[in-house]
Amino acid sequence: MNNSFTKIAIIGSGTMGSGIAIVFASAGIDVNLVDVDKRFLDKGMEQIGKFLEVSVKKEKITKDEQDSILKRIKPELNLEKATKEIQLVVEAIIEEEESKKELFKQLDLLCTDDVIFASNTSAISITTLSSATKRSDKFIGMHFFNPPIIMKLVEVVVGSNTTEDTVEKIMNLCKRLGKEPVPSNEAPGFIVNRILWQFLNESYKLLESGIAEKENIDKAVKLGLNHPMGPLELSDYIGLDVMLHIGEYLAIQFGDSYKPALILQKLVGEGRLGKKTGKGFYDYVE
Ligand code: CAA
Repeated sequence: MNNSFTKIAIIGSGTMGSGIAIVFASAGIDVNLVDVDKRFLDKGMEQIGKFLEVSVKKEKITKDEQDSILKRIKPELNLEKATKEIQLVVEAIIEEEESKKELFKQLDLLCTDDVIFASNTSAISITTLSSATKRSDKFIGMHFFNPPIIMKLVEVVVGSNTTEDTVEKIMNLCKRLGKEPVPSNEAPGFIVNRILWQFLNESYKLLESGIAEKENIDKAVKLGLNHPMGPLELSDYIGLDVMLHIGEYLAIQFGDSYKPALILQKLVGEGRLGKKTGKGFYDYVE
């Protein structure tokens, strides 16, 4: 039954959850988009609306496509209702192990046995998260990249108990979504974030030690490495809180050389979380 994904639930309507919802709905799959608070859900739906408006203006999609994508995304506060008659859950909530485990425990009770659980975690062990459920064979990582609609990669993270059947279904699903799935065995940070974290964290250390101005760090990396964004600009785009969670997790797993630079901790402490709050390494005006 899971070969044909027709309806899924995405838990978490933040930047990633709402972006992932557009990816699924664009592939003709119905999405129940869930969050704990109506304000978060309204903000997620607003982001989706704005993105689709821009897509029509850019002639990436037609007005009719915009309408049908929107119709396929249903905001929902009630987890029980949202998990009826679905074939897949994609979790995209805060990057905290205990919060994720608690959610998966609830979902395990609500969902029928055939439902596959996927986590969009950026770094946390899939096997550890799956231990909160009785379906570790149907538990997998589906790690999208920001912005989910544009970035081609999905890391498909295989936990210790994930079966080949689950991997095959999710690899095929990613292709149906127009993505390039890359499988990775489980390891903290998987492939990309293990590398990305050290790269971004070094840019924070360069900045805090006064080696170069923030604009020049970004300019040098963009021009010297042909990256579309510099590391500080990219960190603001991802969210400094997200980067701090990833760095703290990797430091626990791999030791002090992964420890987040003080400047990142300081900015997050001040509520400067990046583009989403209007302030991060840079200030943003709408
Ligand atoms: N629908 C579909 N495709 C669209 C689109 C839309 N609405 N809007 C844009 N695109 C596509 C198009 O292919 C477009 O190219 P063309 O229009 O030339 O064909 C391409 O996306 C780029 O779009 P734009 O020109 O509008 O945007 P841009 O050039 O300003 O690029 C960006 C924006 C894609 C974000 C770019 O700056 C970039 O790639 N930045 C780096 C992003 C990155 O590294 N993300 C990963 C973060 S790490 C992560 O997410 C993991 C984690 O766990 C932390």
